[in-house]
Amino acid sequence: MEKISRNDPCWCGSGRKYKTCHMALDEKIHHYELQGHIVPRRDILKTKEQIEGIKESSVINMAVLDAVEKMIGPGVSTQQIDDLVHEVTTRMGGIPAPLNYEGFPKSVCTSINEVVCHGIPSAEVILKEGDIVNVDVSTLYKGYFSDSSRMYCIGKVSEEKKKLVQVTKECVEKGLAVVKPWNFLGDMAQVINDHAKANGYSVVVDIGGHGVGLEFHEEPFVSYVTRAGTEMLMVPGMVFTIEPMVNMGSCEIYIDDKDGWTVYTEDGKPSAQWEITVAVTQEGHEVLTW
Ligand code: MF3
Ligand code: CO
Repeated sequence: MEKISRNDPCWCGSGRKYKTCHMALDEKIHHYELQGHIVPRRDILKTKEQIEGIKESSVINMAVLDAVEKMIGPGVSTQQIDDLVHEVTTRMGGIPAPLNYEGFPKSVCTSINEVVCHGIPSAEVILKEGDIVNVDVSTLYKGYFSDSSRMYCIGKVSEEKKKLVQVTKECVEKGLAVVKPWNFLGDMAQVINDHAKANGYSVVVDIGGHGVGLEFHEEPFVSYVTRAGTEMLMVPGMVFTIEPMVNMGSCEIYIDDKDGWTVYTEDGKPSAQWEITVAVTQEGHEVLTW
């Protein structure tokens, strides 16, 4: 990190002197680093202005999910969801971030039952009574990315699937509750994994969350299976997703080798996921998308 003097303008662009702006915070972070902890680099800490930008993007992201909620149901194809996501996002001035992302062919991911994530919308896939489906929406607006997903129960759903959906939501809530400065990402992982396990479920290991905001996927990788006291230190200005994938059976997964995207549970049992984007603040946290 470049050396900055007390009276220099702060690196964050606030216009204030370093000593009255980020100096104390940097010293505290450095203290943790000396103890061997993983700490965030400056460039992943967002300024107030950047967080405002991510929030504007998030407004669109949540409006899209609200619109999906109104139209989703038995007989609706996942292509119809994709069409709606594209229409609402672009009408509000945004761009669906998944579209053409590393070759992803659609505007949204739709993941039904044993599909863990990254399901590709299709006119041939029709939602039916009893399905649980994750709709994962990501928006680019004025250079800022937001990312969140919700589960929808289609018609009457079995008690055991309903419970999976509910417990997965609770995992996110419990994880969120420990998001505050000077905790670790592993503290969040631990409470999420513990809650899933206590209900007989497993958390996917190989796919996790991520920093988000200036890019779709930024550092850090966010695991939901690591231990308290490990992983990156939480520092004000960090923005990341909480998006555990919780499997009713084993945590083993595989990727469809034909489309290269769709992720399935190895045992064919259902999987659920909720995703929010959260910012670490001085006081604790602020949820940017739900
Ligand atoms: N929205 C997903 C996430 O939470 C990423 C989807 S990648 C895509 O990270 F290419 F499928 F869009
Ligand atoms: Co995400």
